[in-house]
Formats: sequence, structure tokens, C-alpha cells
Amino acid sequence: MNQNFSLDPSASVLLPVAKKEKIDTVWDRHKAMQPQCGFGQLGICCRVCWKGPCRIDPFGDGPKRGICGANADVIVARNVVRMMAAGAAAHSEHGRHVALALLGVAEGRLADYQIRDEAKLRRIAGRLGIEEAGRGSHEVARDVALLTLADFQNQDHHDPCTWIKASLTEKRLDKLAGLEVLPHNIDAVVTGIMARTNVGCDADPVNLVLGGVKGALADFNGMALATELSDVLFGTPRPVITAANLGVLKEDAVNIALHGHNPLLSDLVCEIAHTMEDEARRAGASAGINLVGVCCTGNEVLVRHGIPLAANYLSQELALLTGAVDAMVVDVQCIMPSIAELGSCFHTEIVTTMDDCKITGTRHVSFKEETGAENARQIVTLAIEAFKRRNPQRVLIPDFKETSIVGFGAEAILEALALLDAEDPLKPLLDNVVNGNIRGIALFAGCNSTNAKQDSSFVTMAKKLAAENVLLLATGCGAGAFAKHGLMNQEATLAWAGETLKGVLTAIGEAAGLGGPLPLVLHMGSCVDNSRAVQVAVALADKIGVDLDALPLVASAPEAMSEKAVAIGTWSIALGLPTHLGIMPQVTGSKVVTDLVTETAKELLGGYFLVEPDPEAAAEKLLAVIDERRRALGI
Ligand code: SF4
Ligand code: FE2
Repeated sequence: MNQNFSLDPSASVLLPVAKKEKIDTVWDRHKAMQPQCGFGQLGICCRVCWKGPCRIDPFGDGPKRGICGANADVIVARNVVRMMAAGAAAHSEHGRHVALALLGVAEGRLADYQIRDEAKLRRIAGRLGIEEAGRGSHEVARDVALLTLADFQNQDHHDPCTWIKASLTEKRLDKLAGLEVLPHNIDAVVTGIMARTNVGCDADPVNLVLGGVKGALADFNGMALATELSDVLFGTPRPVITAANLGVLKEDAVNIALHGHNPLLSDLVCEIAHTMEDEARRAGASAGINLVGVCCTGNEVLVRHGIPLAANYLSQELALLTGAVDAMVVDVQCIMPSIAELGSCFHTEIVTTMDDCKITGTRHVSFKEETGAENARQIVTLAIEAFKRRNPQRVLIPDFKETSIVGFGAEAILEALALLDAEDPLKPLLDNVVNGNIRGIALFAGCNSTNAKQDSSFVTMAKKLAAENVLLLATGCGAGAFAKHGLMNQEATLAWAGETLKGVLTAIGEAAGLGGPLPLVLHMGSCVDNSRAVQVAVALADKIGVDLDALPLVASAPEAMSEKAVAIGTWSIALGLPTHLGIMPQVTGSKVVTDLVTETAKELLGGYFLVEPDPEAAAEKLLAVIDERRRALGI
């Protein structure tokens, strides 16, 4: 079973357990869902009003228009831009939550939080045009938080959001302004998309997609502020050695899995768990408390604290099938509702924590920033109690874990480069790109999907691109895949990197005191942290005075799945990046929309979608794009 569905070796250990115990997994449900709706796959099913649902016949003599008259192009465009709006909403709610917490800290209302990286706060203030010299950190934090929140409130259409203005090249901002797709207010742009896609509104597919691009750029804005302000509150990632895959669970410890996306509670759980080790030992857990991560909350605590990563998206159920997880604490996004049932098949406490993200059949601890530490204590206590109920006979922890060196945010990358050239840290990177030691840069992002073999394309593409001397960056569940499969350590660099890339990674790694190369794939953080990669790209582009679409830089989401990925992919092309999708996007029922995002976008924006399910072929295509860009730059 595992051979077809997942590359993860833990799956082959645990799926037989599921079968024996008659527990459904995501792969069983995927199978039961076949054949999936062809109209949905093409994006030509409309449920925007109750005259419908309407569906367009793509081949035969059936209807070419919905009851209202909407054709396939309009229906596809409306569907996909609503997905972009939903993605933007998800990331931006996360960002708003963090910004409000920073405001609370600045105003002395949140005793459980503090400013952990004041230097970064001051750098951000500088970027946003806030005076910081000679002012107290709380005063500066208040201004930063309020200016950030203004990105959710500004009503002046001609004044784009502050964060996007502070995050892109001048040329890119001009281009986006010219197309009238720069967001001025995240909330207004998301609302605007919902309004224009209502029955009987915007019926021009190109206009609709451009509206979606604006929503996607609002998503970028929300992500950038979420990442940067999280660093202020919880610390900026630095390289740390840890491990990944389900072998990080411990038989003799209270295992607490932190799952979801938002660091506001999980960071406090990390802090509080340390203080409750004795309690865990008294309950019989000789190794105390073992925190592990799942999905992007996992990535947040991985890159900041070195908490090992147990699972990425499609492996979340496998974590529960080990019978060794005492509590799975979830916040928001990418949490399968199925975990309620899985938890109840074992002793596991599934704890939901956000009031707008509950799951029937689980326990809810209502997290509030004002009582964050107390909520964290409640959760750890629940885990310790559950540990006492754990049945050791049902514990099966796969013996797979891979060493992972993670925590390469923009600052960490620049600091490592500064060890080669303190005066001009970007110079070594640029020189190596120019001389071809680094042929190009690829950012892997995005999810896992049951429409592909889990993790497989990530691994195949990374090995092939690295052998061709492409520098690899990763975020989100893509990064989780690389960590689980041992591509984020020095051995991987020695095994898979082409000679010149290996030379560069070794020079930096040795200067950084790692006694060997940097890992083959650099883990930049959670999916909200894709903005970190943009920061590095913008610094490079600014240094050579070009726009982002001139760089030999590509993005890839081989297993894109969520609405958030639709938004990220779209801002990626809007920023000028050729962006690979390994999953067929649900737009192919419209030639207008498909041509727009795969071809016309290249002329309009420089970036475009490149759809290729086969990972070998996808890597070849990305290499060709990289070479095309190198030629255009004359390097
Ligand atoms: Fe059908 Fe038009 Fe209603 Fe969509 S909006 S369901 S196409 S009538
Ligand atoms: Fe994520």
C-alpha cells in the first residue's frame, strides 16, 4: 500500500496497523472518493448561487453556460480567485493575530510574551519608516504593530500596504502598480474578491484573475508581516541541529505533538513544558516531556527551538497510529478533522485551542494570549494525564529519523555569508551565481497531496536539481519532506550536490563552524515564511540592479493542495518567478484562464505557472528556465 501512496518509510510500518485495527487513513478515504468529480477537477462546476449548481459540459453537446449565462471562463476564474481570497484570509488572520499580540506586549497587557529579538524589531522599524533611535523597545513595537494593523484598515486605494512596499524591488512595485494589483488593505481586498465573484458581478475572466492576483499579493503582505513579527516575539531562526520523522517520538516520554500553523501558543507550550518535566517523571515518564512538531506549527518550533519534526501534512494521522502520542495540540490550518477519530482509537488527547477552529469529538482549551502560559500548563497537564492511560502494547514507533540542520532564515543565510565576506555578505552568493558554481536557486514550497505519492516528487526533483548545482531552499510541508527523507544534513550534500554547489556549501559551512558543508536543502521555516526567500531574492536583485524576474530563481510546489498554496503560487508568479505545480490546477476547464496563468502572465509579470506532474521532467523544465534567465543576464 505504502509503495503507491507515500515515500515515507514510516507509512509502511504504520499503514498495516491501520488496516489491522480497521482505522481509515487519508489514503483510504482518497481511494473511496474515486473517481473524483471531473467537473470539479476542471473548475467548471459553479455553486455561487442557488439556481445552481451549474456545470459546463467540456466536451459534448451539453450546456456551455450556467443558468445565469456564466460561461466556463467566468466560472473557472470565479472559483479560483475565491481560493486565492481564502488563502489570503488564512495567512492574514494568522498575521493579524501576531500583530495584535505584539501590540498587547507593547502596551504591557500580555505578561506571558516578550520581545525576544529587539534588534530585529528595530530593523523592521527602519524598513517601515518608523523612528527608532533613542526610543524604548515597547514604544517602537507599538508603532510597528499599529502601522502593521493599518494594512488591514487603510481605505485609500492609491496607497499600497506598508509591508509590501517595504518588501519588494522598486521595479516590481512599479510593475504591479501599473497593473493596479497592489493591495491597499488586506481585509478590503479579500472582501472585494468575495463581492465581485457574487452572482451577477464581474464576468470578465481576465479582470477576475487580476483581482485574484491582488488578493494573492495581499496574501504575500499578510505572510511577510506574520513572519517578521513572529521573529520579534519568538526569536529569529538560527541554524540548529535536530531530527525528523516519527522516530523522534519516545516510548519513555510524554509525547506532545504541536500541530497547525501559529506559534503564539506552541511557543509557550515549549516554555512551560520545561518547567513540568518533574511532573511527567512522577507520572512514570522516565524521559520527561518530549515535544515534537507536525506541519507548520512544527516548522515554527523546529526552526526557532530545534524541536524535532515528527510529521508533515499527510503523515499527521501516522503520528497518532504510533499509539505513542499523548496529546496532539492543534491551532489553525491543515488539521485533518479525522484526527478526532484517530485520537479516540487510542488514548490520545486531541486538543483544539482556537475558538474559531474546533473539531467535534475533541477537547477544547480556549487559548487567549492573556492566559497563554496557563493554557499551555493546562495542555501539558492533559498530556501527562493521558500518558498514564497509554497502552504500551499498542505503541509502535517506526525506527526512522534523520538528522536535520534547519533554521536558515534570511538573516541566518546572510550571517553565514558574512563569514566569507563581512563587508559585503551578498557578494560570495552573487559571485557564485555569476560564475555558475550556483547555476540557479529553487524554492520548494507547499503541501502534501493525495493526488501524488507523498514526498516523492520533492525528493526526486531536489536530487536532480542539486546534482545540477541548483541551490535549494524549502518551506512548509515541502521542507518537512526533505527533513524526513534526510536531505537537510551534510551527508546529503556530500551525496547529492554537484561538485561546484558542494564547493560553495562547504566553504560556507566550514566558515560557519559546521565542520563540513551546509545541508543540501536550506530549511527557511513554515509556509508563511516563504516571505523569507523573497527577502533574499530582493536583496540579490537590488544588489545587481535588476527586478526579480531577471534572477535565475524558480519556485516549485510539487504537491500543492490548499487554498493557501493557490494564493502563494499566484503571488509567486506575480513577483516574477516561474512556478512549477506538480498537481493539475483546477482551472483547465477554461482555456482563457489556463493561457493567462501559464503564458500571458510571462509577458505581464515575468512569472508564470509551469504544470508538470512528472518530477524528472519538471526538474528538466526548471533547469531550462534557469538557463534561459542566465542567458538573458549574460552570465
Ligand atoms: Fe449557475 Fe450562474 Fe448560479 Fe453559478 S451563478 S450556480 S453558473 S446560475
Ligand atoms: Fe503550512
